[in-house]
Amino acid sequence: MKIGIAGVGGMGRHHGRVVKEFKFVREILGCDLSAEARKLAEKEGMRTVGDLPTLLAWKPDAVIVATQPSAHAPIIEACFRAGVPVLTEKPLATTIADCRRLVAMGKKLRIPFQVGFELRYCGLHRAMVDVVKSGKIGKPVSMGLVQISGAHQKGYFTKERCVGIFWEKLCHQVDIYRYWFGEPERIMAFAGRKCHQTLRHIGQRSGSHCFSRRPFRHDNNDKRQGCPGRRD
Ligand SMILES: NC(=O)c1ccc[n+]([C@@H]2O[C@H](COP(=O)([O-])OP(=O)(O)OC[C@H]3O[C@@H](n4cnc5c(N)ncnc54)[C@H](O)[C@@H]3O)[C@@H](O)[C@H]2O)c1
Repeated sequence: MKIGIAGVGGMGRHHGRVVKEFKFVREILGCDLSAEARKLAEKEGMRTVGDLPTLLAWKPDAVIVATQPSAHAPIIEACFRAGVPVLTEKPLATTIADCRRLVAMGKKLRIPFQVGFELRYCGLHRAMVDVVKSGKIGKPVSMGLVQISGAHQKGYFTKERCVGIFWEKLCHQVDIYRYWFGEPERIMAFAGRKCHQTLRHIGQRSGSHCFSRRPFRHDNNDKRQGCPGRRD
């Protein structure tokens, strides 16, 4: 198969690394408006082009959409019009109207199309589903969740880019809740305008992330680079 990747930033390059492991994938071509992102992808061995029409002219068998959310809808639509199946990163789009339009279009054209809510398939969530289904803890009546997450670049959660943190991140949780418990009666969410300066989860080494107004980098060890707050 020939796989196209639209947007070769953090997630696009990650998809590239994963997809190239599959035996049935013959070729991968990335596409990004940013020369800097293309350079990083090429450093990892991915061939790239600078725009979507060139990617589609290459006749991919499927395209993975991994641009920022605000660019998803026009790219998905262009892929559909070219008859190309799509796996898109979440969230599907940045307005409800666009989400509905894309779902209707995909169904009408009968094009394979999926939003990559990969948490459904991760081992931790599957193990939790098994516990709930086993009945060992009775019937759950409510569920709480703390999302620990940081932006790896300034302006990551802006309205223009992705509507905001709930749209960008909460879609994962809403998907998981629906997957586990069916349709909700009501959804509530809240957050402070300036969230935790430091947040440490005991026994969760990769969980020491923070929200901050300063540039912040994900960190997989305990050093919490860039975190301006207390270190305890
Ligand atoms: N599933 C997950 O766990 C997870 C985690 C992080 C991000 N994401 C999602 O992945 C997507 C990408 O996030 P990211 O962190 O990689 O962002 P990013 O900013 O690192 O990369 C986005 C790239 O898209 C490029 N781009 C923008 N418009 C384009 C266009 N019209 N054509 C081609 N390229 C274009 C940008 O230049 C940039 O390089 C988002 O939808 C985000 O929500 C998912």
